[in-house]
Amino acid sequence: MYQLSHDLPQLQQRINAFLAEQLNVDTLSSPLAEAMRYGVLLGGKRIRPFLVYATGRMLGADLNQLDYAAASVEAIHAYSLIHDDLPAMDNDHLRRGQPTCHIAFDEATAILAGDALQAFAFDLLTQAPDLLAEQKLALVKTLSQAAGAKGMCLGQSLDLIAEQKHISLLELEQIHRNKTGAMLSAAIQLGRICSSHFNNTALEHQLQRYAEAIGLAFQVQDDILDIEGESEIIGKTVGSDLLADKSTYPKLLGLAGAKQKAQELYQTAIAELDDIPFDTSALRAIAEFVVNRKS
Ligand code: IPE
Ligand code: IPE
Ligand code: MG
Ligand code: MG
Ligand code: MG
Repeated sequence: MYQLSHDLPQLQQRINAFLAEQLNVDTLSSPLAEAMRYGVLLGGKRIRPFLVYATGRMLGADLNQLDYAAASVEAIHAYSLIHDDLPAMDNDHLRRGQPTCHIAFDEATAILAGDALQAFAFDLLTQAPDLLAEQKLALVKTLSQAAGAKGMCLGQSLDLIAEQKHISLLELEQIHRNKTGAMLSAAIQLGRICSSHFNNTALEHQLQRYAEAIGLAFQVQDDILDIEGESEIIGKTVGSDLLADKSTYPKLLGLAGAKQKAQELYQTAIAELDDIPFDTSALRAIAEFVVNRKS
């Protein structure tokens, strides 16, 4: 029987070792590289790499073929967190249980570490072994679209504009789907693209519907943890959203309403998996983790 409590730590260890190797002091040595390592290597649940591995493995890809894509999505994610914490954005001081990058280093270094991590992510994709040029192009396209002006960056921009404002539930959903959902969806599609099913559009759409449900659920739970979480467990300052008067699911729906929304999205996600003709047990388990996680 599939056990996430066994699989997740193993894949976390795998991606941590791979990222440490790729960001090695011998290959990257500078104060800037120190800040990059700080932002990437000091913790994190590694959910996005997990999604790359779990999806690719389900479709018959070898883990060795998935390391580069898994690392690339985590590099973009780490960059997004470093920038998200900056004074001009969420102005947070605690991340993954440590001082945020701009506190540990300085603002300019944190900005540049984020920039360099973004370039690093795409460089990794060019190096993925045993993939066709066509697959690598699809990886670049998927990751760049998810990260950019129609994905994560758009969501981050709209999130900041929506501070101290009353927005509709539909507008909030658009923010969350972009700032967080896009990168989680990309992780799943990267896993598929690394497999022999890279041209299977029916599967792409099935996975996309699952991905969109867990992507939104992930940010709904993140909003809930900003209120209900414990700082030592989430590794972030509790109440950061309240302080900035962010538009969040608990703000619009109340805490109980937000929790119900997360559960509904979980049900949607696992229902989508029913139609996927592969062993979806890992994707099923991670969906449950996403809505019940405490960190
Ligand atoms: C936090 O992401 C930011 C969001 C997109 C909600 P995670 O909760 O995945 O953070 P880490 O990587 O585990 O630190
Ligand atoms: C950020 O959302 C999503 C990103 C793209 C980084 P949040 O601002 O809610 O993430 P946390 O709570 O700071 O991790
Ligand atoms: Mg933010
Ligand atoms: Mg934030
Ligand atoms: Mg948050």
